[in-house]
Amino acid sequence: MALSVVIGAQWGDEGKGKIIDYLSATSDYVIRFHGGNNAGHTVINKFGKFALHLVPSGIFHPKTKVIIGNGVIIDLQVLLEEIEMLKKCKIKLENKLFISPRCHLIMPYHKLLDSLYEKAKGKNKTGTTGRGIGPTYSDKVSYNGIRMVDLIDRKSFSEKLKVQLLIKNKILKTLGAKQLSQKNIEKIFSNYREKIKSHVREPFSLIQNAIKNKQNILLEGAQGTLLDNDWGTYPFVTGSTTLTGGINAGAGIPVNKIDNIIGITKAYTTRVGEGPFPTELSNEVGKKLRTVGGEFGATTGRPRRCGWLDIELLKFACYINEFTQLAITKLDVLDSFPEIKICTHYTLGGKKVNYFDGDTSFLSKIKPIYKTLKGWNKPTKGITKYKDLPLPAKQYLKEIEELTKVKIKYISTGPKRDEIIKI
Ligand code: GDP
Ligand code: IMO
Ligand code: MG
Repeated sequence: MALSVVIGAQWGDEGKGKIIDYLSATSDYVIRFHGGNNAGHTVINKFGKFALHLVPSGIFHPKTKVIIGNGVIIDLQVLLEEIEMLKKCKIKLENKLFISPRCHLIMPYHKLLDSLYEKAKGKNKTGTTGRGIGPTYSDKVSYNGIRMVDLIDRKSFSEKLKVQLLIKNKILKTLGAKQLSQKNIEKIFSNYREKIKSHVREPFSLIQNAIKNKQNILLEGAQGTLLDNDWGTYPFVTGSTTLTGGINAGAGIPVNKIDNIIGITKAYTTRVGEGPFPTELSNEVGKKLRTVGGEFGATTGRPRRCGWLDIELLKFACYINEFTQLAITKLDVLDSFPEIKICTHYTLGGKKVNYFDGDTSFLSKIKPIYKTLKGWNKPTKGITKYKDLPLPAKQYLKEIEELTKVKIKYISTGPKRDEIIKI
């Protein structure tokens, strides 16, 4: 497998957790390289059911080491809760979980600012997860961040916090929010410091050596292509680069070292939060997708918006990420639909247009053009061999391959680790 990257091809929640848990059985390292605990990666295996927000989804394999790379932003309360929860399930973490000292910390004021910005935007809000993601990344790029390395050095933490509170308390006051106390934050964070410090170490040489020694490395993308800060449906996006290229900045890995780029897409489309969604179904079919697919956010529990598979968007994700293979998840959710539609392209004023031709408002004006395929009306749940799939399901998959020109390598037929077809 060598060096593989797993990237969400849609608006997140494509089933990355499940696929990473499955693929990482042979991985020496699994590395998260961006995002924070806005991610919710569901893993169901012999240890139980988990929604991982920060710890990489390869953690369950005894020989796999996991790294939270420098591009990830961390809410220590969430990370420590996750660590506790894993320990309770007898998952070993010492000498197995490494956290880059370069990771920026999500501070209490970031979470407050996230909700205050959303409130100020009113009906134009992004619909964030409320985890402080945007404000933390904006402090990072404006050189106002506090990093894990600062936390470890008590004096540096205290000095940086002082400056930030000077600034942030003024903003909070203007926006009518309560003031934050240095003393309280320092107390909470010195407790975090003691609990986390054994996991903090610079992973650069570990990763470089693993590449040199041709060890198996799996990079775990978070969110999805259409939530990318530059190429997604801005401003209805997230704060990080969600694309393949993000591994260079977010994990220190040169992009030409990549062997496989696996794009993950559901067999239909979902989105949580605000923003345009051309194939959204605001009818009974959409409701059925949500119910059958259990489409409720793993992080916030919000109902996900549902619609048919959008090939125009998938093709864009294939181009921009250079997927070498696709993993299709949740095929089984379509088992009871008499017909299945697939959006093959967009038109505007009768002319064919592309996703990248316009901005977010453009995307709410285009017309999605559909092709209707026959449903299979047979259970595919748990099928592990391609030959056992009903013919219309094979035809649906073939259609996706032909339209995207990318080979489907994995087909997921249920949420559990082994409910998967490898081609
Ligand atoms: P992620 O953020 O990309 O890891 O995806 P989430 O975990 O947020 O959401 C995916 C949801 O689909 C979770 O509830 C998974 O347990 C579930 N899931 C993943 N693959 C399949 C599948 O093939 N079939 C079904 N029915 N559920 C799946
Ligand atoms: P995983 O890794 C789905 C969405 C939010 C919102 C926008 C910005 O589980 O696929 P943020 O809190 O990041 O500032 O919110 O991005 N969003 C996700 N949607 N899956 C995710 O992660 C998401 N992470 C953020 O709903 O629309
Ligand atoms: Mg998720």
